[in-house]
Amino acid sequence: MIELRDVAYAYPDTDHYVLDGVDLTVARGEVVGVIGASGVGKTTLAKIIAGFIPNVEGGTLDGSVAVDDVPISSLPLAEAVAQVGLVIQNPFNQISGAKFSVREEIVFGLENTGVPRDEMITRVTDVAALLRIDHLLDRSPYALSGGQMQLVAIASVIVMGTPVLVMDEPTSQLDPGGSRMVFDVISALTDAGTSVLIFEHKVELLREHADRIAVLAEGRIIHEGTPRAVLTDDRLESWSVGSTRYTRAARAARGAGIVHPDAALPVSLSDSTEYFTTQRTGR
Ligand SMILES: Nc1ncnc2c1ncn2[C@@H]1O[C@H](COP(=O)(O)OP(=O)(O)O)[C@@H](O)[C@H]1O
Ligand SMILES: [Mg+2]
Repeated sequence: MIELRDVAYAYPDTDHYVLDGVDLTVARGEVVGVIGASGVGKTTLAKIIAGFIPNVEGGTLDGSVAVDDVPISSLPLAEAVAQVGLVIQNPFNQISGAKFSVREEIVFGLENTGVPRDEMITRVTDVAALLRIDHLLDRSPYALSGGQMQLVAIASVIVMGTPVLVMDEPTSQLDPGGSRMVFDVISALTDAGTSVLIFEHKVELLREHADRIAVLAEGRIIHEGTPRAVLTDDRLESWSVGSTRYTRAARAARGAGIVHPDAALPVSLSDSTEYFTTQRTGR
């Protein structure tokens, strides 16, 4: 479980608070999607929850950040990484660069945790099968496409089995099929009790897989709710966040007077079919 209370943060050598008053809770087994404009502080927030900020990057952090009731920013990084797995935004930076095969790359984080060798091998095999990268295990991490590298980066985090996962745009290099698979894996992990906070632009996938969506704007969580409520909110554009194509099409139809103005907006293909079948004005 993640609990953020009144979190504020300024990077070193700046007096500008990038985040100021962030309140957010992610329960055990819950998936919360965070959306927000570029530069709003998503990556910063991800690093705070994982203890990289201020442990590694310094700066001024106020408020409280707790993971399973442990104040994460007071833990040494080695202990924080056992609590929170962080999939960083750029998979090329997640790869250690010190290993000759994908298998070694994925096992790397486990090596100093005291997990027995046999279990390490089983865990790597399992996570590779889950993310469908078994055929890559003996390849060089440098002979991978961007999408494959992203899956390896995700595998190297999931293999740690942390109770909390923070994912910063984890599907940026993936095609629609790969993105969907990653979200299916996330759903399987949350069924097993993992809490997941995911910073993601692909709102249609969040609509399907997130329990809740939170909007980061003006340095704090400005709004949160069910995917349906957030993604049809009239203020979405003013927070520089895109809505689903179904909602956009419905708004355009409403603007043109083709559908009844008061009907709830659709956020999925099936909603949309129903909406355009039942809400036509006949014009
Ligand atoms: N190391 C840093 N030092 C100073 N400012 C930074 C640093 N990293 C990011 N920022 C600034 O913090 C703000 C939030 O950045 P970031 O968290 O990367 O946003 P997002 O992930 O939402 O695009 C931006 O204005 C960015 O320029
Ligand atoms: Mg970012």
